[in-house]
Order: sequence, then C-alpha cells, then structure tokens
Amino acid sequence: MASVLVLNGPNLGRLGSREPDVYGSQDLDSLRELLVATADGRVEIDLRQTNDEAELISWLYEAVDTATPVILNPAAFTHYSYALRDAAALVTKAGIPLIEVHISNPHARETFRHTSVISGVASGVIAGFGFSSYRLALQGILDA
Ligand code: DQA
Repeated sequence: MASVLVLNGPNLGRLGSREPDVYGSQDLDSLRELLVATADGRVEIDLRQTNDEAELISWLYEAVDTATPVILNPAAFTHYSYALRDAAALVTKAGIPLIEVHISNPHARETFRHTSVISGVASGVIAGFGFSSYRLALQGILDA
C-alpha cells in the first residue's frame, strides 16, 4: 500500500473558521500533519478537498484505478448524493477499503443529517471524534 486518499467534501476547506463550536479550530493542514504523524512513514497521506461533486467522484475513480484505500468525509453530500454513493460503491466492490468519517456526530444534530446515503456502501463509519475520526480510520486501514 503506497498511499491513502483522504478526501474531503464541500465546505471542509473552511475548517478552522467554520463553526468552530462544531468542527473545532484546526484546519486541513493540521489534519494532514496529524495523519502524517499517525502513518509514521508506513503510507503516504494524500489529503484533498473539493466543493465539486464531480471532482470528488473522479477521485473515487482514481482510487479504484490505483487500488488506493480511501478515508472519505463526504460533508453535506453524505445526506443526499446518490452519485457519490454509486462511486463509493465502485471502490468497495473492487475490494478497496473506504471509511466514511465525520468530525461531528451527525446523529446528534439536525434531522436531515441523520441519513447517510454513503454508509451502506462504506467499509466502515467513524463519527463524532473530531479529527480523531480520521486518525481512527487510518489506524483501521493500517491494521487491516
Ligand atoms: C460533516 C457532517 C455533515 O453533516 C456536514 O454537512 C459537514 C461535515 C462532519 O464532518 O461532521 O460538512 O461531514
């Protein structure tokens, strides 16, 4: 395993200043540092963020084509993007791990966040642990 793709959906580029009471005050650079430290040289961390559903889907195709494990925070796409779900299914049906992560616990928030259209095709789901949700997902991939 050469690398792990850590894919972040819409508005996560604003971490640090976006609703710090919900998402904390650290940004994506801090997240990258945390994951690089957790990986400790065992895998490369390829962390990306986009607000564009099509780009996120193209990155999942890339994961399939390169057999690269994925940590995915689909952000708001979690709750309604069947297109992203279908692309995520391509990853897991190819036998490649895809872990859905959330910084917050969506189940403890507004009702529309209680549904994930991604979870049913994910290898696993980790939510509610802040940036540690990603760290635990990476640990799970490394342990597998
Ligand atoms: C989120 C939860 C989603 O409901 C929300 O739309 C996000 C972030 C999380 O990491 O807690 O953008 O995925």
